[in-house]
Amino acid sequence: MCGIVGYVGHRPACEVVIGALRRMEYRGYDSAGIALVNDYGTLTVRRRAGRLVNLESALDEAEGTALRGHCGVGHTRWATHGRPTDRNAHPHSDAAVKIAVVHNGIIENHAELRRELEADGVRFGSDTDTEVAVHLVARHYQHGPTAGDFERSVFAVLRRLEGHFTLVFANADEPGKVVAARRSTPLLLGVGDGEMFVSSDVAAFIEYTRDAVELGQDQAVVITAEGYRITDFDGVATDVGWRTFHVDWDLSAAEKGGYEYFMLKEIAEQPSAVANTLVGHFVDGRIVLDEQRLTDQDLREVDKVFIVACGTAYHSGLLAKYAIEHWTRLPVEVELASEFRYRDPVLDRSTLVIAISQSGETADTLEAVRHAKEQKAKVLAICNTNGSQIPRECDAVLYTRAGPEIGVAATKTFLAQIAANYLVGLALAQARGTKYPDEVEREYRELEGIPELVARVLDNIEPVAALARQFALSSTVLFLGRHVGYPVALEGALKLKELAYLHAEGFAAGELKHGPLALIEDGLPVIVVMPSPKSSPVLHAKLVSNIREIQARGAMTIVIAEESDETVRPYADYLVEIPSVSMLFQPLLSTVPLQVFAASLAKAQGYDVDKPRNLAKSVTVE
Ligand code: F6R
Repeated sequence: MCGIVGYVGHRPACEVVIGALRRMEYRGYDSAGIALVNDYGTLTVRRRAGRLVNLESALDEAEGTALRGHCGVGHTRWATHGRPTDRNAHPHSDAAVKIAVVHNGIIENHAELRRELEADGVRFGSDTDTEVAVHLVARHYQHGPTAGDFERSVFAVLRRLEGHFTLVFANADEPGKVVAARRSTPLLLGVGDGEMFVSSDVAAFIEYTRDAVELGQDQAVVITAEGYRITDFDGVATDVGWRTFHVDWDLSAAEKGGYEYFMLKEIAEQPSAVANTLVGHFVDGRIVLDEQRLTDQDLREVDKVFIVACGTAYHSGLLAKYAIEHWTRLPVEVELASEFRYRDPVLDRSTLVIAISQSGETADTLEAVRHAKEQKAKVLAICNTNGSQIPRECDAVLYTRAGPEIGVAATKTFLAQIAANYLVGLALAQARGTKYPDEVEREYRELEGIPELVARVLDNIEPVAALARQFALSSTVLFLGRHVGYPVALEGALKLKELAYLHAEGFAAGELKHGPLALIEDGLPVIVVMPSPKSSPVLHAKLVSNIREIQARGAMTIVIAEESDETVRPYADYLVEIPSVSMLFQPLLSTVPLQVFAASLAKAQGYDVDKPRNLAKSVTVE
């Protein structure tokens, strides 16, 4: 949520900052802005509502020298405080236009600070919470014990701010320096040769360096072209709480690589996303996690599992419940992180909480983790983003190695989450002895074969895209499933809602007669996820009856079924075939056509598939 960047070095800062914003636009695209300090000590700020391209046009018209310089900050916004207008776009600057700030997060005590500044005669130019930060820094820089000292002025302000924030400041008086700080939102440092970067995401600087530093909680960093200094909010240098790492993917992973849009590329990358997530997790006949700070004894002591997540990650959690209960006989509850936190769940030392998050930044999930830790529960993270906050705060981590996901709608990370969830289920079963080693290995081997089957689904996907185009004018699409097909139905509906802005709902097919059947009318498209006739004949028969019931009432049935499933054929107006696998693994295949359906329908409607309206990739506000 909001992408921010700061640069100091030998390149033209304008180009570096705009390039970084382009690669972070998925984090928010309500407005974009840049502040540059040129070599003569002049600060120039340009900001525009709407997509980055609006800012780029404004820069094209701008006078050349103002934009020349080697120091700058930039921002791409997902609005929280204040409408997405030019005046609310970041960067914000002080009255003298000397100091500029960009911000991700929320300054919770902004109202009180604003009143104080207004009483002091400061006039605000925006409705944002952010603007207080720059006026406060300017005040400290002009008067009192920190006067003339940019760094100390920033530290003095950081100590007064409440909430969660990453802030990056530039100052016209110091053209070779940027000061940044974080509390609970991400801040990464890119260490180049004669240049330094700060940003929300490594994608911002991956073109120039893969050497990165992840800052710790309540830490600040001062960068110059030659180096960096990490401090606490008192300005005291510290060598603990932060860590260096090497980014193991390159620029091509963060670019479209010939695909029309990122989501299409990411759907196509699903076989490798699942394969990479599995690599290295089955060693000497045993499942191993990544950062395993929980022992087998800890896992044996678990008597209940909670899974907390939001959105698509929550749907992957619903699937995990089927697998974990089946393999370990442990009771599993799956909860939306935003609900879990506020309802006083029963947790203790023998509870395992599994937090699933692509970004590792989602505020609701992070708060759920913190609550679970306060109650002494053991917490395990499944996360796609190395260096993010959620894994840092957990007792064990399993990374989904899906690579960067730029399309706002989650696709490859969903499949990778399912694979990771299943690894955790198998690790629990192994530690608790509810599965023999050869049974664990059999499940793992089947999982290992999934990427090839996903690739087969993708090879035959064009008819699904064509079908979606036929339904482009539908106002409602319903999804039905049973057992693991039910979370897949929910996920299919979510994808369609967020990408194509139409009414879509997923139902457990058994619930049809308890209400939703009333929605069925002539020509209504209903997508049905069929269970395997071989591994679950009872459920299969029930779902065939459900299809007959809706078809009899005029629904147009689009059925996702196994290749060998002849019984369902007569009831499918459109049939989409997928390879046959064990029941628990079917979602890894059946989800793929639903992703393509949603993306193609949205595209046919002319919508921006990678950047659906009102949404952003990481939701760092509750
Ligand atoms: C939907 C989608 C969202 C996220 C949700 C959680 O396509 O992407 O529903 O799944 O916001 O985000 P993470 O996984 O980053 O915690």
